[in-house]
Amino acid sequence: MSAMDSQMKFWSSSARNAVPYTPGEQPKDRKFIKLNTNENPYGPSPRVLQLSTQDLHMNLYPEPTAYGLRKVIAEMNSFSPEEIFVGNGSDEVLAFAFGAFGDEDHPFSFPDITYSFYPVWSDFYHVSKQIFPLGEDFSFDLTLAPEDGGPLVIANPNAPTGIALPSEVLVNYLEAHPDRLMIVDEAYVDFGAESMVPYIRKFPNLLVVQTFSKSRALAGARLGFAFGQAQLIEAMNRIKDSFNSYTVSAFSQAAGIVSYQDSDYLAETSSRIIATRERAKAALKELGFAMTDSMANFLWVTHPQESGQFLYEALRERGILVRHFSNPALTEYLRITVGTDDEMDELICQLKNIRGINQ
Ligand SMILES: Cc1ncc(COP(=O)(O)O)c(C=O)c1O
Repeated sequence: MSAMDSQMKFWSSSARNAVPYTPGEQPKDRKFIKLNTNENPYGPSPRVLQLSTQDLHMNLYPEPTAYGLRKVIAEMNSFSPEEIFVGNGSDEVLAFAFGAFGDEDHPFSFPDITYSFYPVWSDFYHVSKQIFPLGEDFSFDLTLAPEDGGPLVIANPNAPTGIALPSEVLVNYLEAHPDRLMIVDEAYVDFGAESMVPYIRKFPNLLVVQTFSKSRALAGARLGFAFGQAQLIEAMNRIKDSFNSYTVSAFSQAAGIVSYQDSDYLAETSSRIIATRERAKAALKELGFAMTDSMANFLWVTHPQESGQFLYEALRERGILVRHFSNPALTEYLRITVGTDDEMDELICQLKNIRGINQ
């Protein structure tokens, strides 16, 4: 018996049965052009870099509800702080939502192709799941969602396809299903999709989750937040405070405040990424790639001549990391984060040197 086996006898059934999410690679050994984890190449607002740690009173525990940050997010969107939840990345916010609104009798519905953490949280929290198909072109058809059941969670834009539904479709769904909670994961919304935040007041069955990781370039700070009417937020707080009172560090709270206040920087860097994305779409189409009309900071592409696995490896050898998924429905595709114009030019240049491309 190996040392590992001998320690596995201590594992709980949760540890034994867990099928964890696999995050994208964060290589340490070599300098890659990193287009694999949807990070933002421009860095956070300069106001974040000017923060002084002396002002943060690091000897004290942070404000447990991130009140200052909730207040800023609330005021800038005409809400009250009771309608805002802040967590350690939107992964944590979403995980708490699975705990707060799902169980064996309240199954979560989500599409078969979407953010692959949703099934992981369902299993971890013993939440039943009802998975419904996307169209063959990865399009969203909410009429395919099971009619009865608990919360519906969708990523809008979806991951890893980048396809966004117009808010009108979601509004119609909410109106037709007043007894069903809809959770909209808007991790990528600032790159051109329509947000559901303006509808929070109208729909008590709507929770919208956003993040500082993508458009605000603060993936390292781990900050996510949610908008919802007060009783939805209260349920989230009950789960959080049964797990860890201080999920968001003093530094991250302070960084979140100055970053959220800097709307100009957000607008400027997001529009640069959108422009680069559209330029990269055109260049990749010229090389024969097919793709969805991504509204996110990544592209979802496939090439008729070469497999996703081959292209992933060929790019890796050439110093460019992109994301490839082994799931059979996704294996012909690559998810390519939109970097700077120079990084995308280098991607196109390297692709031209790969067998089967541009011939
Ligand atoms: C659809 C979607 N939701 C949520 C997240 C989590 O982001 P974070 O935990 O960094 O806020 C991601 C990260 O890639 C994502 O793709």
